[in-house]
Amino acid sequence: MVAKNILIITGSPRANGNSNNLVKAFAKAASAAGHKIEYFDAAKADMHGCHGDQNCFKTGHCGLKDDGVKMYELMAWADVLVLASPVYWKGFTSWIKRVIDRFYVYASPKGRANCTVKETYLIATAGNPDPAVFDAMKQEFDLVNKLLDFRCAGKLLAGGLKGPEDYKDHPEYIQQAADLGFKVGLESEMARTAFSTRKSLRSQWKSI
Ligand SMILES: Cc1cc2nc3c(=O)[nH]c(=O)nc-3n(C[C@H](O)[C@H](O)[C@H](O)COP(=O)(O)O)c2cc1C
Repeated sequence: MVAKNILIITGSPRANGNSNNLVKAFAKAASAAGHKIEYFDAAKADMHGCHGDQNCFKTGHCGLKDDGVKMYELMAWADVLVLASPVYWKGFTSWIKRVIDRFYVYASPKGRANCTVKETYLIATAGNPDPAVFDAMKQEFDLVNKLLDFRCAGKLLAGGLKGPEDYKDHPEYIQQAADLGFKVGLESEMARTAFSTRKSLRSQWKSI
């Protein structure tokens, strides 16, 4: 399997809370599978919101000189992007919202050329156990994938986690996070194999 570069962007102020512990399980599995991992902690980053001047559409780069510079460097390195966030008021936390707004630079072809991400994962936590609590977040995540031409490879929606240590009562979520980590690269590998098999079948057919 081809090793992937994975960028994990986290958006919880609880350093050792639910989403960050699910991220740990994901990362442990992904690095055991041979992938490289980098982190960007959006909840700690000194990063402004998008100024909306649209200069990035002309230049292909965001003009804001803050911790976003580091994030953009990592987005030019990563094959796979993981967004990890608790649900706040039914959506992403303000830190992840800021990250998504700053992805506006990738909405133009010039900017998109500076981003190597192809696949994404969502790791989300919420106090409410009702799966519908994730609807708004999923809608926004799906829109990001659609507009920026990312392929969503998996979502872990872990409801019913209120206190920072509630993940400990849900080993199934830890397992699901690890399963996603092990899965990184496998689907694209399978797609590539299927494609090359189809291609070789086609060329064999031509040569008959
Ligand atoms: C400001 C704030 C808003 C929240 N809004 C929601 C919400 O709309 N729905 C919900 O189910 N949980 C909500 N929660 C609970 C968190 O999603 C939940 O505690 C989650 O497990 C926190 O994840 P973390 O430990 O990774 O930070 C909110 C928590 C905070 C602090």
